[in-house]
Amino acid sequence: MVDQEQVFAALRGVFDPELGADIVELGMVQDVDISDDGRVTLGIALTIAECPMRSQIEDDTVRKVTALDGVREVTIDIRAMTQKQRSTVMERARKTARENAVPTRVDPKTRVIAVGSGKGGVGKSSVSVNLAVGIAELGFRVGLLDADIWGFSIPRMLGTDERLAANDDKVIVPVEVHGIQVVSTGLIVESEETALMWRGLMLSKALEQFLHQVAWNELDYLIIDLPPGTGDIQMALSRLLPQAEMVVVTTPQKAAQKVAIRVADMARRSYMPVVGVIENMAGFTCEHGEHYDLFGSGGGSELAAALGVPVIGRIPLDASVVTGGDTGRPVAQADPEGAAGAALRATAQRVIDLVPPVEDETCTARIARLVESLESQPI
Ligand SMILES: Nc1ncnc2c1ncn2[C@@H]1O[C@H](COP(=O)(O)OP(=O)(O)OP(=O)(O)O)[C@@H](O)[C@H]1O
Ligand SMILES: [Mg+2]
Repeated sequence: MVDQEQVFAALRGVFDPELGADIVELGMVQDVDISDDGRVTLGIALTIAECPMRSQIEDDTVRKVTALDGVREVTIDIRAMTQKQRSTVMERARKTARENAVPTRVDPKTRVIAVGSGKGGVGKSSVSVNLAVGIAELGFRVGLLDADIWGFSIPRMLGTDERLAANDDKVIVPVEVHGIQVVSTGLIVESEETALMWRGLMLSKALEQFLHQVAWNELDYLIIDLPPGTGDIQMALSRLLPQAEMVVVTTPQKAAQKVAIRVADMARRSYMPVVGVIENMAGFTCEHGEHYDLFGSGGGSELAAALGVPVIGRIPLDASVVTGGDTGRPVAQADPEGAAGAALRATAQRVIDLVPPVEDETCTARIARLVESLESQPI
């Protein structure tokens, strides 16, 4: 008769290809029940019930366990993990990713915040630019990486037409604008040769170049403007920069369920922890003080609740955001007292609170300093 140990050994051969580990290691196998007549019932918890890998994991499990001698039938009871189980699994997957990552030129001490969304046109780029400028105004060294390789909008939003150049060591130097270091395909010399070179590269390769060949100058924060969608760039990013975390931009519209599933899935596949949700285009207050919820309300809170994260900002619908983007003067800097400008600055502050800068000082150094200060105090 087959025993638990054999079943577990077979299950170790079932991989979650996206998380890069087997389902036993990932803690997905919750129950194993073996009847006397060789019927095996397995309780398997997936990170989310809508996991796109579900049928593959199910098929592999049935195939591998059925192949064991003495097994007549395999039944799988699929369930979704609890929030807590999910974070444990993600933490494990991130650890593996960190261990396997090839070092980039981005200092491991730099906090990396990727700005993503479940759908396009919700204001990711506007938010990225203003977060970058807002965080820089708080006194931090900030880089902004435009990961929207072909649909770039960062150079226009920052009003720069400077070109990226290489230094003597053949390393790309970011363009400095509004106090931040910026890299975007939109800033690449427009000679036919370079355009061709870039066109020849795969999207993730372009991202790789930005991370491996750009001489970022001692950043506290690197903000990454993600392209619309939940695909390749998002996945490549976490492989290249496993310390990346994500803030999700959404509109107040209550179509959140579908968006939530997409975002949760993106976060899952990319191992990126979600820091929180920024609700953009939230309400409009006209000059007479009347408030209109043009795009509905509640979408941000709904998405945040579904992801189990806080709402970290609400940015009102405000023409100054569009003007700021079109004239290259980000509203967080150009109109800090205006409704959108103030909300964006507050959001930048909240991001810093949630993801504080990595201090240069080590714990040991801090303890030594503390002891020293105690010793120097009169008794
Ligand atoms: N709070 C706001 N109030 C008014 N207009 C806004 C606001 N946020 C963004 N916009 C405008 O909405 C449009 C889309 O914004 P943006 O380009 O930042 O979105 P995106 O999510 O980056 O889009 P894509 O998915 O194409 O990359 C822009 O014209 C921008 O100026
Ligand atoms: Mg964009």
